[in-house]
Amino acid sequence: MTINNKYKLPNLLNCKICIIGLGYVGLPLAIEFSKIKKCLRTGKILKRTIFGFDLNKKRVKELISGEDHTKEIDEIDKKELKSINFFSEENANIEADVFIISVPTPIDENNNPDLSSLKSATKSVANFIRKREKDTLPVLIIESTVYPGTTENICVPILEEITGYKLNMEFVCGYSPERINPGDKTHRLPSIVKVTSGSNKETANWINDLYSSIIKAGTYKAKSIKVAEAAKVIENTQRDLNIALVNEIAKICKLINIDTLDVLDTAGSKWNFLPFRPGLVGGHCISVDPYYLTYIAQRNGYDTDIVLAGRNLNDGMSEWIIEQLILEAKFKNIDFQNARILLLGLTFKENCPDIRNSKILDVIKHLNKRDQIPYIFDPFMIEKKKLSGINFRYLTKSPLDQNDKYDVIIISTAHDEFKNIDSKNWRRILEENHIIYDLKGIIPRDLKPLRI
Ligand SMILES: NC(=O)c1ccc[n+]([C@@H]2O[C@H](COP(=O)([O-])OP(=O)(O)OC[C@H]3O[C@@H](n4cnc5c(N)ncnc54)[C@H](O)[C@@H]3O)[C@@H](O)[C@H]2O)c1
Repeated sequence: MTINNKYKLPNLLNCKICIIGLGYVGLPLAIEFSKIKKCLRTGKILKRTIFGFDLNKKRVKELISGEDHTKEIDEIDKKELKSINFFSEENANIEADVFIISVPTPIDENNNPDLSSLKSATKSVANFIRKREKDTLPVLIIESTVYPGTTENICVPILEEITGYKLNMEFVCGYSPERINPGDKTHRLPSIVKVTSGSNKETANWINDLYSSIIKAGTYKAKSIKVAEAAKVIENTQRDLNIALVNEIAKICKLINIDTLDVLDTAGSKWNFLPFRPGLVGGHCISVDPYYLTYIAQRNGYDTDIVLAGRNLNDGMSEWIIEQLILEAKFKNIDFQNARILLLGLTFKENCPDIRNSKILDVIKHLNKRDQIPYIFDPFMIEKKKLSGINFRYLTKSPLDQNDKYDVIIISTAHDEFKNIDSKNWRRILEENHIIYDLKGIIPRDLKPLRI
């Protein structure tokens, strides 16, 4: 389908871009659009205006003051915050041409997709578009993770209903999934190939050109919006299943009394053995996206065989970890009930302050069920968050800066700060008869850690 000739796509060099949802995904994107002044593809000068919209007033205030609690942008890029026009009012008059949505897409208590933020953000876009001078075709791009079909079957009808405009006549749309890995300083937005797609050929090319103007690694134009949506969820589903496999291998290794990581390192000497590691699978991507895939499969009459099996296995790891700990305590004659237990790391990912869906919270729940209230230290959690349903004692200072000793230390997140502790310092905070449970494989082997 080609575009209605009456309106043209916006000028790529000086278009006005509004990012909706300024979290781990939206903020780095807004910064990148703002800071790249010369098109990476053509070398032409870019004179774009960047808007940033977030319903969360506190977040907008923080960004206006030049701060970012997600720590996803470095000190140099922080200066760029001043060039972005932030706002949080849904009824604002925004004269943007391009609207990019990057709001959360979690699951509900029944593991079904919760698209409420995406729908509400689309309504905001519809209202912005409705008020705008109609000189060019407005472009809607979804970056949030969704199941295949969401952009065209959920977002487009909302936009059409509120504005009265028709897709590919008075507005166009596309989907470009985000693939960043928060806390990872190597794989950043500009260095990851960006998948793009559009509601017709011209739009797909336009959106591809838009992203290739700022992404050093380049772009990959998907065959359709649905293909791009599906690609995103299967990337994370594949990771989830691969981790489930090594988690199962870990259980078997434990039964036959060999170290799982030694086995994986040995198998990894073969060129085509994939380097997955066992562990807890938390966060809002790998532990959530497979449910988006199973949802659309079920809606089409297919119950997945292995995707949910992998999910269940990974979700059961926190309980298995505690069972292993109790077995080790018995073996070492440690009174588990009265043991002082310290958990190092609460965030779901290393060097990142994100705590959403952290499975370490499940580990704490299992300890609480056994009347244990563990101590917690996490350098990335600046203040004790109000976490409901779990009981723990929160350390505001590193245990290394205190004089207490622990019977059990569980290394649950591989923050660099923990990786850098040497054997001597670990011994300083451990009782003579102790367990050091290294869920991340980062502790010196001379300490004889219990490993997953
Ligand atoms: N964080 C990641 O590692 C990552 C990686 C790839 C893809 N994703 C996907 O990207 C999307 C965003 O994730 P995130 O981690 O950036 O989320 P986030 O929670 O860090 O940020 C989302 C922001 O959107 C705002 N918001 C919510 N509803 C809104 C609305 N209706 N209008 C305006 N703003 C609204 C929130 O206040 C928040 O600031 C999700 O679909 C996620 O699955 C995330």
